[in-house]
Amino acid sequence: MAPEKPVVAVTCTAPVNIAVIKYWGKRDEDLVLPINSSLSVTLHQDQLKTTTTAAISKDFTEDRIWLNGREEDVEQPRLQACLREIRRLARKRRSAGDEDPAALGLSYKVHVASVNNFPTAAGLASSAAGYACLAYTLAQVYGVESDLSEVARRGSGSACRSLYGGFVEWQMGERADGKDSIARQVAPESHWPELRVLILVVSAEKKLTGSTAGMRTSVETSPLLRFRAESVVPARMAEMARCVRERDFPGFAQLTMKDSNQFHATCLDTFPPISYLSDTSRRVVHLVHRFNAHHGQTKVAYTFDAGPNAVVFALHDTVPEFVAAVRHCFPPESNGDKFLKGLPVPPVPLSDELKAVLDVDPTPGGVKYIIATQVGPGPQILEDPHAHLLGPDGLPKPAA
Ligand code: DP6
Repeated sequence: MAPEKPVVAVTCTAPVNIAVIKYWGKRDEDLVLPINSSLSVTLHQDQLKTTTTAAISKDFTEDRIWLNGREEDVEQPRLQACLREIRRLARKRRSAGDEDPAALGLSYKVHVASVNNFPTAAGLASSAAGYACLAYTLAQVYGVESDLSEVARRGSGSACRSLYGGFVEWQMGERADGKDSIARQVAPESHWPELRVLILVVSAEKKLTGSTAGMRTSVETSPLLRFRAESVVPARMAEMARCVRERDFPGFAQLTMKDSNQFHATCLDTFPPISYLSDTSRRVVHLVHRFNAHHGQTKVAYTFDAGPNAVVFALHDTVPEFVAAVRHCFPPESNGDKFLKGLPVPPVPLSDELKAVLDVDPTPGGVKYIIATQVGPGPQILEDPHAHLLGPDGLPKPAA
């Protein structure tokens, strides 16, 4: 006999975020409480997103999860922490007298399927979008309406910032139980429509040192990291929020670059040292500074997470010339027509003056491709039942 239809199946999407004031270091590893606040830009889901379906049914005999079509170990501590936390919030809601039928599902097992439309673990913050999407989707299934920072955070710290669109801060909080360590929107996605984001993919390989292990060693060994958390970040958070509020691009861009550089300096100050940047990353840094110097103003900014890919911010009217400069310094090897993905960018010729200033030996293939995107909204619910990644039997559909 075919199993009964899942009682509830919900499908949602969630965005990637890129920090402009970096989170690096935990004061409590179990609760995922950071040593400093951080601030990020949510990227548009038209280019980068995670899609997740969660279903509950009394026919399911165990919790199960599939990532990009492959079944994963549901016993992973982070996944378990998210499931425990969302079920705790759902129970709390029910005991508060709210008899939502979805709350009935608490005794049922859950099946989850999740896919990314970008390479996992390539330094493109897939865990942030993934855990934000998991938290948001489970919240719909269990009828939880409270703040989901804690659920997402337990999966991956930076995931709590992907719960909102636009510009988002994760306040480190002061409490030992982490109740005040929450994400909050600083400005919505419509606030700065001219802002563009270019992801320069230099390597699509899995990274050498994961964030969790890397930041643990940094907390244990880097005096620079402690100084950064205590004496640098608080003022930078306030200054970055001001730059965003006032749409001060040069201020935003300079602080973004400085904070990325300081984060990577703390990695080098870690013992044994960690290095996430590659020669190509450093060439991009050089290119951005030359480009800005040529224009006599800060028109472009880079930032790097725990990997060699560069994320570049610019206003929309700067993008065509900067993309031409990237093509000049990193001539595409074979895939010239696939070099640019995402938002269209019109080709423009590069002036001889700028070519002379860039003055580097071209590195063919150094940048594999560029994804052009912009600031975007937070998680979305997909109402169309065809969007479900799980079939009526609760197993991944063939394409999922
Ligand atoms: C460099 O959120 O991946 O991207 O909490 O251990 O899962 P865990 O770490 P994670 O760290 C992200 C670090 C970063 C900076 C940032 O996104 O703020």
